[in-house]
This record gives sequence, C-alpha cells and structure tokens, in this order.
Amino acid sequence: MHKIVIMISNQIVMSKKPEDTYQWASKLAHALVPGSIIALYGELGAGKTCFVQGLAAGLGIDQPITSPTYTLIHEYHGTTALYHIDLYRINSTEEALNLGLDEYLDGQGITAIEWAQRADSLIPPHTIHVYIDAGSEEKERIITIKTKT
Ligand SMILES: Nc1ncnc2c1ncn2[C@@H]1O[C@H](COP(=O)(O)OP(=O)(O)OP(=O)(O)O)[C@@H](O)[C@H]1O
Ligand SMILES: [Mg+2]
Repeated sequence: MHKIVIMISNQIVMSKKPEDTYQWASKLAHALVPGSIIALYGELGAGKTCFVQGLAAGLGIDQPITSPTYTLIHEYHGTTALYHIDLYRINSTEEALNLGLDEYLDGQGITAIEWAQRADSLIPPHTIHVYIDAGSEEKERIITIKTKT
C-alpha cells in the first residue's frame, strides 16, 4: 500500500469539465487497495460527488451514485465495496462516531468522505486527501492530491 500511495501523492490535475474530474477519479480507483480512504474537500458544488462517481466507475460499480447529503452514508458492492460518506451535516467528532465512521475507516472497502474536515481527528494518516478548487473558468477545477507519507 505504501508504494501505491507514493505513486499517486502530491499531484495537481487541471479539470476543464465534469468528465475530466470523473475520468481522473476513475483512473485513481485503479491505484487503490482495500482499506484506502479518500478525503474530499471543496465548496458546495466543487465536484466531490462527481469525483466519487468516477471512483465508483473505476471500481466497476455500475449502480448510480447519488449524493448521500441526507442519508450520510451510501454503500455499494462491486468487486470492492465503496462507502460514500458525506459529513456536511455533522457538527462534531462524536456525531461521526455515532455514524460508525471509525468502523468504515478500519474496514476493507474503499471509503470516500466528502467534507472530511468535519471529522478531521478521525481521519487516519494513510488517507489520500483530494482538494477541489475553482479554476478561472466556470467549469474549471484544480484538483490537488496529497498524502502525508
Ligand atoms: N470540472 C468539473 N468537475 C466537476 N464538476 C464540475 C466541473 N465543472 C462543472 N461541474 C459541475 O459542478 C457540479 C458539482 O457537483 P457535485 O455534486 O459533484 O459537488 P459536491 O462538491 O459534491 O457538492 P456538495 O458539497 O454539495 O456535496 C456538477 O453540477 C458538475 O456538473
Ligand atoms: Mg457532494
């Protein structure tokens, strides 16, 4: 796992349209291993869910991926399980623990977490951090991938 994390660490990708974000995420999916965690950061509408849709496609999940804004967690089972979590509505680490976040993080699936900063102290060191920022054009996004290793 360590080697794979280094391969995909500290990259900046320019996305010019939603399809670019989707495709880049689907490529990243191939570098993931059981237990990988993707923490996603960016404003409302930045493209975090779009990124997770690409991840799911790359993992061979053919179900539609919808935003878990209200339900907080969606589980998908392809060749690898994907746990799609949205912490926008949680206000404390305790609430995240009540959702069972730590059990997903310790599991063998791939866990993708939108608004991961809401549970910063629970996010393990091997997490892949994905920051999505606005670019200069309406559909442009600057995607920064960082790992701590
Ligand atoms: N380059 C791009 N990459 C990703 N999405 C883009 C891009 N350009 C435009 N978009 C649009 O931005 C929106 C992103 O929505 P998405 O639901 O993925 O955002 P989000 O970051 O998950 O927001 P939220 O915090 O509300 O969950 C979509 O409507 C998408 O079509
Ligand atoms: Mg979203």
